[in-house]
Amino acid sequence: MDVDAFIRKAVEEIKKEAGGEKVVMALSGGVDSSVCAALASKAIGTRLVPIYVDTGLMRKGETDRIRTAFGSLNLHVVDAADEFFNALARETDPERKRKVIGERFIRVFEREAERTGARHLLQGTIYPDRIESEGGIKSHHNVGGMPLHMKFERVIEPLRDLYKDEVREVARGLGLPPEIQHRMPFPGPGLAVRVLGEVTREKIEVVREANAIVEEELVERYRPWQCFAALLGLGTGVKGDVRVHGWVVAVRAVNSRDGMTADPLELPFGVLLLLGSRITSEIPSVARVVYDITPKPPATIEYE
Ligand code: XMP
Repeated sequence: MDVDAFIRKAVEEIKKEAGGEKVVMALSGGVDSSVCAALASKAIGTRLVPIYVDTGLMRKGETDRIRTAFGSLNLHVVDAADEFFNALARETDPERKRKVIGERFIRVFEREAERTGARHLLQGTIYPDRIESEGGIKSHHNVGGMPLHMKFERVIEPLRDLYKDEVREVARGLGLPPEIQHRMPFPGPGLAVRVLGEVTREKIEVVREANAIVEEELVERYRPWQCFAALLGLGTGVKGDVRVHGWVVAVRAVNSRDGMTADPLELPFGVLLLLGSRITSEIPSVARVVYDITPKPPATIEYE
């Protein structure tokens, strides 16, 4: 693929489609939306209004990373954590949780988008997204892919014919930071699908910290396709000589080509022990750490 030619063509297309109007987009910090933002910023400058919704379900440091990477754009950061936690209270069904998050996301995004007075919407839809939604294989996936109630004059999708690896090439061509180019997939509903059952602030805090430790130990050294922590529930542990309840955290690290199938990483036992000891000592409410050895299928990559 000729990356420079693609960039020139995409910039021209966005300029033409925008036609002097403001354009909004949901910026998640993932590679697709980041590439879209960079292309549109070249094309229409500050007439692009990227909206980043902090759902409270993001990875550790994510909001700051976004601010640093996109601070020069006309970035709107919306702190909507309270809204998401309230909406998720007492929801235990995985599909309901996804739906609640998707709907809340749309509501917050539309509210902010309306304030900007933008006429058009920019979306980071890539080729496999279109195939998946046309085939109806997945009911979940990108919250950005849910139907909006708001009417935009145009929906601009500059990445619609690209595969993921081509998007990464474009990211490199645009000079985006390496952590964006190589970013692991992160689910739209965020850490909520890495907490089994009801989501609470406390559980999200635990899984966020555990996830950061897993990423710190594994990303650079093993470059897995995806690695993360999930919170399975409460189990027993022992502190001093007293039996206590503590969280059970699972570590998942997989290699995959496209997320449709996946294999667990054969990590050295010493690395697993280190993860167990770091997670239980740095997060005292965790009593037990397990390593997930299941391929997909039969397991999915995420826990819900
Ligand atoms: P599963 O768990 O279905 O995951 O084996 C396959 C890939 O999809 C990601 N995933 C999601 N991405 N919204 C997303 O945007 C979701 O609801 C969602 N669920 C799973 C998962 O992280 C993996 O890369």
